[in-house]
Amino acid sequence: MSETAAQNTPKSRQEKDDYFKTVKVLKRPEVNLTRTLPRPTEYSLALDNEYKDIAFNEERAPENKGQWRSKVFKVNEEMPLDVEIGTGAGNHFAHWAIKHPERLLVGLELKYKPLIQSIRRAKVASCKNAAICRYHAFNLDLLFDKGEVNNVFIHFPDPWTSPYKPKNRVVNRIILDWIYEMQRPGSFLDFKTDSREYFLWALEEIKASKYKVEFQTLNLYSENNKYKEENFATGFEKIFTKQGIEINYIRLVKE
Ligand SMILES: C[S@@+](CC[C@H](N)C(=O)[O-])C[C@H]1O[C@@H](n2cnc3c(N)ncnc32)[C@H](O)[C@@H]1O
Repeated sequence: MSETAAQNTPKSRQEKDDYFKTVKVLKRPEVNLTRTLPRPTEYSLALDNEYKDIAFNEERAPENKGQWRSKVFKVNEEMPLDVEIGTGAGNHFAHWAIKHPERLLVGLELKYKPLIQSIRRAKVASCKNAAICRYHAFNLDLLFDKGEVNNVFIHFPDPWTSPYKPKNRVVNRIILDWIYEMQRPGSFLDFKTDSREYFLWALEEIKASKYKVEFQTLNLYSENNKYKEENFATGFEKIFTKQGIEINYIRLVKE
């Protein structure tokens, strides 16, 4: 174990509980390289071939940091650029890109198949404003510069509800700080989850952030308001709502 890891490892039970209650240290994830996959799939190959100009693997993606507008999309710096973390099969990703041709959208997804499904959906709809990265959200600070991003979507991230796993949750105070710094003033961050446990935990992380809460609910579908009206049900959201699970939702703003 490295010296830093040893220092960060909780020793007593109490220490352990405190350690995992909030996220104090982010461990850089170990992400395998697409280039050295022992058995490339049609999806990993599509990422580096057919879609290479709009889909970026974990090595090529950070080369665009600070240059998404100028280098990738070849537009001026004023054009809004939104980010979706964990696109899944890309239902919302394509919906947002189609609905907002006046904005850009960069998706992050770790798994090859949903990543290609996402970018394919946007491409089939002739979107020129969407790109996707095979990228781990815990490396987000390597992907965007301060002030490079507008709105951010985090829809149904993996909830990590088993004991001692909250440290793997994407909506944590460290990543919230990063996103806050990346966003331009007047932007929002949307977070939706089926996991009440994750949501309540995240509310504490949010309290420690600089964000202002514009709206929050434990049941997005329970009352009629503009957030429900404007809501687009993602792939996972449709599955959860069919099962009668309440959708926790919060909109944060950077003023
Ligand atoms: C539960 S699915 C939700 C997908 C989609 N947002 C939806 O609502 O239908 C979570 C997605 O996030 C991706 N994911 C999980 N951890 C991630 C990470 N650290 N960085 C980027 N994507 C991640 C998974 O591969 C999966 O496709």
